[in-house]
Amino acid sequence: MKILAIETSCDETAVAIVEDGRKVLSNVIATQIDLHKKFGGVVPEVASRMHVEKINYIIKEALQLANLTLEDINAVGVTYGPGLVGALLVGVVSAKAISFAKNIPLIGVHHIEGHISANYIEYPDLEPPFLCLVVSGGHTHLIKVNGYTQYQIIGKTRDDAVGEAYDKVARTMGLTYPGGPKIDELSKMGNASIPFPKAMLDDGYDFSFSGIKSSVLNYINSCKMKNEEINVADIATSFQQTVIDILVHKTMKLAKEQNFTKIALAGGVASNNGLRTAMKEECSKNGYNLYIPSPKLCTDNAAMIGSIAYYRYKSGIQSNMSLNAVANLPIDLSF
Ligand code: KG4
Ligand code: ZN
Repeated sequence: MKILAIETSCDETAVAIVEDGRKVLSNVIATQIDLHKKFGGVVPEVASRMHVEKINYIIKEALQLANLTLEDINAVGVTYGPGLVGALLVGVVSAKAISFAKNIPLIGVHHIEGHISANYIEYPDLEPPFLCLVVSGGHTHLIKVNGYTQYQIIGKTRDDAVGEAYDKVARTMGLTYPGGPKIDELSKMGNASIPFPKAMLDDGYDFSFSGIKSSVLNYINSCKMKNEEINVADIATSFQQTVIDILVHKTMKLAKEQNFTKIALAGGVASNNGLRTAMKEECSKNGYNLYIPSPKLCTDNAAMIGSIAYYRYKSGIQSNMSLNAVANLPIDLSF
């Protein structure tokens, strides 16, 4: 079954064609990062306009790269939330148009369900159940993946998502959007010498990252007041190490407590070098199997949407022409 998948929830216009949930025939991503950089973050109205300009060309390119036409497509999958509503709408409307014109099924999917499913593409033998740490710009969740469309949230952030904290800290340090990859690069060059707080470390499975963000700001301000030199590499390394310690600690604790031996990572922050290395070390120490998608499948893409759309369809889940964009689509048991 060949699914054409569309992802426009934020600042990437992405279209992919995925066969039977696991085989990527094409995966096209047009990023708008350069456009938003000068504003220090994504400007919703600019993002929607760019999606409108690009979407038809990206659909065409995805078909061409897969050597297919719309006649060969068996269903359309699309992210309908969460995300920027104007941006999501462009994808939803395009998917509905194709579904209607070609009379093929329409499958709306939750963006985070897509991120988790990037693992099915990277690891053809991976099957639920497994434990997944989702770390993106909007989410930080510890999720039990009980089945292809069955999820149970064990922990989540009470304030900022980890990617959001990365981007805000980066802005404080004068780095351009998106700051995550830049902090990741800088942390190869510094020392983890600044003791930032590890909020809620042993307090259940929820996370909190707004405190560490304020601590970085306070640290920079106090250096400035004392006329002390600011070592950005040390700040980046200390911040990154603190965040990784929290993420790894909670994931390992949960895996031990609930006897999980398969652990997956998902979301843009899963492309972080420090997190990947730390997770690999801890998992091998404990004898767990670790699954991490390649960086291109960690950040926003449509291949992951094509994968989960397939499994939703196989579970009998389909959308109809009333499908709408939902900016704050909840992530819960039902999806
Ligand atoms: O999953 P994603 O592409 O979009 C959302 O669904 O949010 O994640 C984007 C987030 C941004 O906050 C970005 O700074 C962060 O992922 N990110 C990273 C890295 N690459 C992307 N954070 C830390 N280290 C990285 N290498
Ligand atoms: Zn995402």
